[in-house]
Amino acid sequence: MSPLPPGAYKPATDHWGSFTKLSKRLPEGSVAVVDRTVAHFHPGLIPALEARNPRAIIQITGGEKAKNLASLEKVLVGGIALPRSGTLVVVGGGTLGDVATVAAHLLKRGVRLVQVPTTLLAAVDSSLGGKGAVDLISRGNVVKNPAGVFHYADEGWICPELFASLSESQLREGAIEAWKMVVCLDGPLFRRYMRKAPELKKLVKDARRLKESVCAQDPYEQTGLRRVLNFGHSFGHVLESLSRFKLSHGDAVGLGMLCALDVGRTMGITPASVADEVEQVLYRGPGVLGRDRIAHLLRRAPIGAVVDLLAADKKAGKSGELRMVLLTGIGAFEVRDVPEATWRTLWPAWKQGLRP
Ligand SMILES: NC(=O)c1ccc[n+]([C@@H]2O[C@H](COP(=O)([O-])OP(=O)(O)OC[C@H]3O[C@@H](n4cnc5c(N)ncnc54)[C@H](O)[C@@H]3O)[C@@H](O)[C@H]2O)c1
Ligand SMILES: [Zn+2]
Repeated sequence: MSPLPPGAYKPATDHWGSFTKLSKRLPEGSVAVVDRTVAHFHPGLIPALEARNPRAIIQITGGEKAKNLASLEKVLVGGIALPRSGTLVVVGGGTLGDVATVAAHLLKRGVRLVQVPTTLLAAVDSSLGGKGAVDLISRGNVVKNPAGVFHYADEGWICPELFASLSESQLREGAIEAWKMVVCLDGPLFRRYMRKAPELKKLVKDARRLKESVCAQDPYEQTGLRRVLNFGHSFGHVLESLSRFKLSHGDAVGLGMLCALDVGRTMGITPASVADEVEQVLYRGPGVLGRDRIAHLLRRAPIGAVVDLLAADKKAGKSGELRMVLLTGIGAFEVRDVPEATWRTLWPAWKQGLRP
């Protein structure tokens, strides 16, 4: 049997250790993409890469603004001399990880990719699952992720020392996405988390295992199974937009999970006791912000704007209804179409920061 082409789905291969140690795995003549901010905080990083005689080290300052065609071009040009058997390694958060994934797909019609996630969000989410994309500008507005590929990484290197320079809010953001996977997919583990919040390394390990198990069953997002990863994202995206992106994605998703618990309870899908318990744990564990933040954002928002934002959400159902992931229990979920009338009944309470 012929080997799989680079980028085809394969189970994630994770290596844990310090970057200095793991960098010795890098084949000579590779090309590296490095978040300049990370290189600044971790001065040993570039010398460790240089020791592997790379063809190029491309430094880009990470952030959503960098997730564009200009960065992609920079990486492609830096990788021109890479042979088809070559390796592209990316050391950064989700934005550079996404750009490098597209570049790895395009260079020589596909080269090996090594992801070294440096944010918690990238470690538990974006560096797994094969998706990469760049943002485009249409009529003056940034459109997120319209140009993307599936290109699975050959290896993930998890270097916990790189997380030491993350801010509290960056850590919370990644933790919220990780707890999201646990509450939807692994009831017994969530109950263990309820008794004692896990340490960072354990959280990353568990979240990666859960995301990998979902991707393994639906590697190219064809069966709908990966929708579970969108728990909290429908209203999360609305709140993120209403805050004009001042609220971080993870914080918005945390609040979006509270909304999803309310919707599930109102529809008789999420038992009240489950919704109560999960809400309390989400505050205590990953540190989801309070309902007053929802109220603050909704107070000035016309309901019509929310209807439009939800309609624009790519997760809408066939009939245009809002399609949401709702908990049926701890570690169990269903995807349901939610009538507008249902969430509208919750609106007055949300607007006052109350639990409906
Ligand atoms: N491909 C996927 O499946 C997937 C999944 C979820 C999110 N995403 C994408 O991921 C992106 C968000 O990822 P992100 O939050 O990692 O963003 P990011 O890459 O922009 O990183 C956030 C900020 O942290 C800095 N940073 C990175 N590592 C650091 C470190 N170790 N210490 C200090 N600062 C550090 C970056 O320079 C940047 O300023 C979004 O573009 C989103 O669309 C992709
Ligand atoms: Zn998310």
